[in-house]
Amino acid sequence: MAVRLIKSIPEMQSEAESLRLAGKRIGFVPTMGYLHEGHLSLVRLARERADVVVVSIFVNPTQFGPNEDYDRYPRDLDRDLRLAEEAGADIVFNPSVEDMYPQPYHTYVLVEKLTEPLCGASRPNFFRGVTTVVTKLFHIVKPHFAVFGQKDAQQAIVIQQMVRDLNFDLDIVVAPIVREEDGLALSSRNTYLNPQERQDALVLYRALQKARQLIDGGERSSEVILREMRKIVESVPSSRIDYISIVDAETLQDLRELRGDVLIALAVWIGQTRLIDNMILRGLR
Ligand code: PAJ
Repeated sequence: MAVRLIKSIPEMQSEAESLRLAGKRIGFVPTMGYLHEGHLSLVRLARERADVVVVSIFVNPTQFGPNEDYDRYPRDLDRDLRLAEEAGADIVFNPSVEDMYPQPYHTYVLVEKLTEPLCGASRPNFFRGVTTVVTKLFHIVKPHFAVFGQKDAQQAIVIQQMVRDLNFDLDIVVAPIVREEDGLALSSRNTYLNPQERQDALVLYRALQKARQLIDGGERSSEVILREMRKIVESVPSSRIDYISIVDAETLQDLRELRGDVLIALAVWIGQTRLIDNMILRGLR
């Protein structure tokens, strides 16, 4: 069946209402579009568990800083519609900025603490924009569950906290990171990279692999692991580290010793492009 494009918020809301009344299970994948295999893996996962799969495509202005890439963020709705349909989406919801943020707009959702470290430190209003738009999308799409990627590990953790704290009546599913064959995590922003930068971008994955190797060998000191990771990232001249952190996967607080569930996350500028990657290790002793 062809995918249905819905642009109007009231139309999406009444469609969701009818689906719920008909007893259909709604699975939801929020995205900013320019879909790649990472997004599509989430759509396929939703397809397996839902009667109706809704994918939203909305480049959300409130999660971009004033000097960030909102204007040049890649957009291609026709291509996205085709890819979403192939992956099993039933509805693509693509609202306008004017409808999502009618002027004057004054209401935001704020998750404290978890949004302070890692990406929150260098992107002050980023998570406020994410939690606000995701709340709005949940109210519009009325999903029974929503799928997020571990690629944005902190985002998934923040959304899970928000859903618990605000009693959203839905489940959050977190799906694994999809990578290129050489290890680079798929991202819409990879399109910004020139061929040399595309090569240099592999340092993020290499640094994570090095960490895993050290941990497999018994290393448990964050300081030692972080030092080795930094060395790898700094080995390419185009790189600038935003952060490389080893934190508790639940609280996101820095760990001196790796123990329990551990998130190793990094954000690195490659030229003008900020890339993120991470790895979660569970039950370390
Ligand atoms: P976007 O960057 O388009 O990502 C949409 C979803 O795809 C997120 O849950 C993200 O974690 C997931 N994703 C991206 N790359 C992935 C990869 N390589 N493997 C697995 N999953 C991947 O994240 C956002 O949009 C926005 O912040 C949003 C939640 C839509 C709110 O605006």
